[in-house]
Amino acid sequence: MRTQVGIVGAGPAGLLLSHLLHLRGIDSVVLESRSRRYVEQRVRAGVLEQGTVDVLDEAGVGERMRAEGLPHHGIELRYGGGGHRVPFERLVPGRAITVYGQQEVVKDLIARRLADGGTILFDVPDVALHSLEKDPYITFSGERLDCDVIAGCDGFHGVSRPSIPEGVLTVFRREYPFAWLGVLAEVPPSAEELIYAHSDRGFALHSMRSPEISRFYLQVPPDTSLEDWPDERIWAELRARLETVPGFTLAEGPIISRDVSAMRSFVAEPMRYGTLYLAGDAAHIVPPTGAKGLNLAVADVRLLTAALAEFYATGSTALLDAYSSSCLKRVWRAQHFSWWMTTLLHTFDDDPYGRRLQLSHLDYVTSSEAAATTLAENYVGLPFDFGARP
Ligand code: FAD
Ligand code: DHB
Repeated sequence: MRTQVGIVGAGPAGLLLSHLLHLRGIDSVVLESRSRRYVEQRVRAGVLEQGTVDVLDEAGVGERMRAEGLPHHGIELRYGGGGHRVPFERLVPGRAITVYGQQEVVKDLIARRLADGGTILFDVPDVALHSLEKDPYITFSGERLDCDVIAGCDGFHGVSRPSIPEGVLTVFRREYPFAWLGVLAEVPPSAEELIYAHSDRGFALHSMRSPEISRFYLQVPPDTSLEDWPDERIWAELRARLETVPGFTLAEGPIISRDVSAMRSFVAEPMRYGTLYLAGDAAHIVPPTGAKGLNLAVADVRLLTAALAEFYATGSTALLDAYSSSCLKRVWRAQHFSWWMTTLLHTFDDDPYGRRLQLSHLDYVTSSEAAATTLAENYVGLPFDFGARP
């Protein structure tokens, strides 16, 4: 088999890349180790930045997102017995976020690729990358896919990054001493906007997927197991961390899915080796508190598409050569914001000094227009040319 761009992974990065390349007349094949059903059902991100919404819209895959996604113009920071709204409409006029499940984006992209005659191979075992310096190819279950370049879009645990020879990458990482328990419940959201709650018992997040479905996250010990979290315990903990302001009552309903996610920060530099380009979680991870991971994956493949389009149109490798450094500007901004939101809102054991700093900073963010604007402009997403030199 032969294609121009061999794409490993059918997450948001790989699928969107394949679609954007198709719009530029560039051929690709997507290889995915899991089943179509699995990737379409995997519950993960929910917050799309303004720029992500625009990319999906402009690429003609935003129809359902526009109809079913929930535009939000603010979030609430809840702590110390009070709720404080961060109003995007005033602080960053014209910019907002859209709450729309990652698996819905994935469903929309798969449907569109298949309708356009694209090739996505699911349930593909034993993917291996070869000859990355020149004339690369991918092998899988006894087959061979030759290509001009490979896009490693296979997430944090994929094969692409480990295929780069030792000593090439510089890795930066930070582990956090807690995890997130994520819950999807069949109950209307208890508030119209997202609530990021800081409390002595740990962080909690109230989010949603639709007017009928709520999404919640709880800070939990890193070694927690799902068996430790029967429904009653989840609701009791959510109540204790969220029902901290007068008049707020948490609506409860059947829990339809639950998952535990590790919290880490990670960047591998550069995001390229020879003909292999890494995009999305394959190259970098942020803790989810800033809602940035999916949005970074979209920003990466937007740049990779432009670089590949220039290469195929003119033979120039200028944008491909700049790919890693261009992506990393945005990546490091999101790293800082995600680390900052995480450190601000979670409970760290035995750190009374850190707790006082958190409360002081929360007071600042909720009272200073300048500090609130910093949060708001990062949260809704900085412009795509952030950090580009004139
Ligand atoms: P992935 O989605 O991980 O896709 C990689 C694909 O590659 C997978 O389908 C995988 O099966 C496949 N694969 C792996 N190994 C192989 C192999 N060897 N061969 C072939 N295929 C392979 N981000 C946000 O922007 N906003 C949010 O609100 C947000 N909330 C989050 C909440 C939680 C609880 C979590 C866990 C994450 C959240 N994120 C959020 C992050 C976001 O989900 C990820 O950043 C996003 O999935 C990255 O997309 P990706 O395509 O790079 O990787
Ligand atoms: C969601 C996830 C996040 O990580 C976040 O910061 C906000 C919302 C969500 O899944 O809805």
